[in-house]
Amino acid sequence: MADSRAIGVFDSGLGGLTVAKQIMKLMPQENIVYFGDTGRVPYGTKGVDTIRKYALEDERFLLSKNVKMIVAACGTVSSVAADTGNSLPVPFVEVISHSVKAAVAASKTGRIGVLATPATIKSHTHRDMIKKLCPKAGVTETAAPLLVSLAEEGWYQPDNEIARLTVGKYLEDMKKNGVDSLILGCTHFPVFGELIKSVLPDTELIDMGVPAARYVKETLQKNGMENGGETPAKHLFFVSDKAVTFEKTVKIFLGDFAEDIKIDRADVEQL
Ligand code: DGL
Repeated sequence: MADSRAIGVFDSGLGGLTVAKQIMKLMPQENIVYFGDTGRVPYGTKGVDTIRKYALEDERFLLSKNVKMIVAACGTVSSVAADTGNSLPVPFVEVISHSVKAAVAASKTGRIGVLATPATIKSHTHRDMIKKLCPKAGVTETAAPLLVSLAEEGWYQPDNEIARLTVGKYLEDMKKNGVDSLILGCTHFPVFGELIKSVLPDTELIDMGVPAARYVKETLQKNGMENGGETPAKHLFFVSDKAVTFEKTVKIFLGDFAEDIKIDRADVEQL
């Protein structure tokens, strides 16, 4: 029987829309409820206790919307607070482990890079998972906090000088160590794909949303939870703060999937 409940997707802000976009691409029939904690972004420079508290509140908010699954479309939550998903009454999907598998499969040399927020890099979650799958791998990890603000500002194109210099600086070690597969370990980072490619043309870039969306599909199939798709899918968006640049930022991350969306404010702390 078709399960028309929505897939719940959350992030610290709007970067997680890059994951929502991959879910929309792969499963156009699925309803989605997205929550971006724009009032408290960034998570990636905060301590683990705070990130865990926020993740629990975000998950509770999505459950209040009767979702059938929760996707933590945030590298930071997935790396330091994935266990918050263990006691949920619905399946929980993080974005790290699937990206690690994809990166190991894509690498010929075993030289793999991880570009992410400071909290994610400090946790070494990607590195430890890579080492488990491929003990001989050499992992280069770089924290790139400024890319979160640059992405939200829309400064990510290869001809943007500030973005080019910043990305170039953050990729110095990746280049020096010859990584042939690079995990974009923060869901804000896929927008820099073209720019990163211009610095590392022979490196395979792993957008965490792509393998995560595949896993979402497999999980729904396995549990008989897919939507039948008789009616056009509904996408609902909630944020904890509507910043002035908000509409522009949504378009940056959703790209061609930025429909005529209506966004509501949600007070997750009140739940
Ligand atoms: N989208 C978040 C992540 O994937 C990064 C933004 C933040 O620091 O909150 O880690």
